[in-house]
Amino acid sequence: MRHLMSPLDFSVEELDKLLDLATDIGKDPKKYAHVCDDKRLATCFYEPSTRTRLSFEAAMMNLGGKVLGFSSADSSSAAKGESVADTIRVVSCYADICAMRHPKEGAPLVASMASSIPVINAGDGGHQHPTQTLTDLLTIRSLKGRLDHITIGLCGDLKFGRTVHSLIEALVRYAGVRFILISPEELRIPSYIREDVLNRNQVPFEEVERLEDAMPELDILYMTRVQRERFFNEEDYIRMKDFYILDKTKMELAKKDMFVLHPLPRVNEISVEVDEDPRAAYFRQAQYGVYVRMALILTLLEVELPC
Ligand code: NCD
Repeated sequence: MRHLMSPLDFSVEELDKLLDLATDIGKDPKKYAHVCDDKRLATCFYEPSTRTRLSFEAAMMNLGGKVLGFSSADSSSAAKGESVADTIRVVSCYADICAMRHPKEGAPLVASMASSIPVINAGDGGHQHPTQTLTDLLTIRSLKGRLDHITIGLCGDLKFGRTVHSLIEALVRYAGVRFILISPEELRIPSYIREDVLNRNQVPFEEVERLEDAMPELDILYMTRVQRERFFNEEDYIRMKDFYILDKTKMELAKKDMFVLHPLPRVNEISVEVDEDPRAAYFRQAQYGVYVRMALILTLLEVELPC
């Protein structure tokens, strides 16, 4: 039985296969409409989420399956003090696969060790968010036609942004990828990513503070929200929250075939005037997220695919 805790749980070849399947699903979703008719997905979310939870639920429904679950710690037995290990043992009796989001780093891993069904990490604290990474990879591959030889700018809260950590880990495995890490001093990438992921793999990267300086070089700009819920005090958050605002003027500095991604939710970091720019890809990205989660469910459940 297989779980998904980190984007590195799949080899590059396995990822390619998964993205191919997601692409095929996107082209012909009807073909897959009943492949999970007898399956159930449990969504165990101990932290708020719109996109991730609903996209998992939509993914399972699109496959003909059913969904059950809870959307906050308060509405589950966690409020009574139940451990994630006990919860997953029980959920294993009700469902065939589980997507779990938790504010504590490592909680889905603990759950996977006690589970008799596949567990998907749907975001654990400031650590990892592998299914967002699968979404990002599918979006980049679909829009640019490749995952190698790209310059990607990651902008905003690189310290607490788990989507950024997972995406960097996944992309260092492709040739010719270069990172421009754009953040205020206080929100720089954690040193374990700088040392153990970037330096160890000899991946070229720069750390800069000004978005304008990086803009002309980028093939992809990955904007992120300042992660209010992970700050220790409100004053620091208020000081940081409007540090970057992508607007039309900054977009003029970018290449014509650059694309803007954002895991969403957006707060102030992308002005709504950018939404109509054809290079704004963040809402298309949300659609890719459903296809890739469908592909992931099929892969982890080892469902026989329609020909
Ligand atoms: C991200 C997350 O939860 O980490 N959102 C998401 O999964 N769509 C990014 C964020 O919350 O800023």
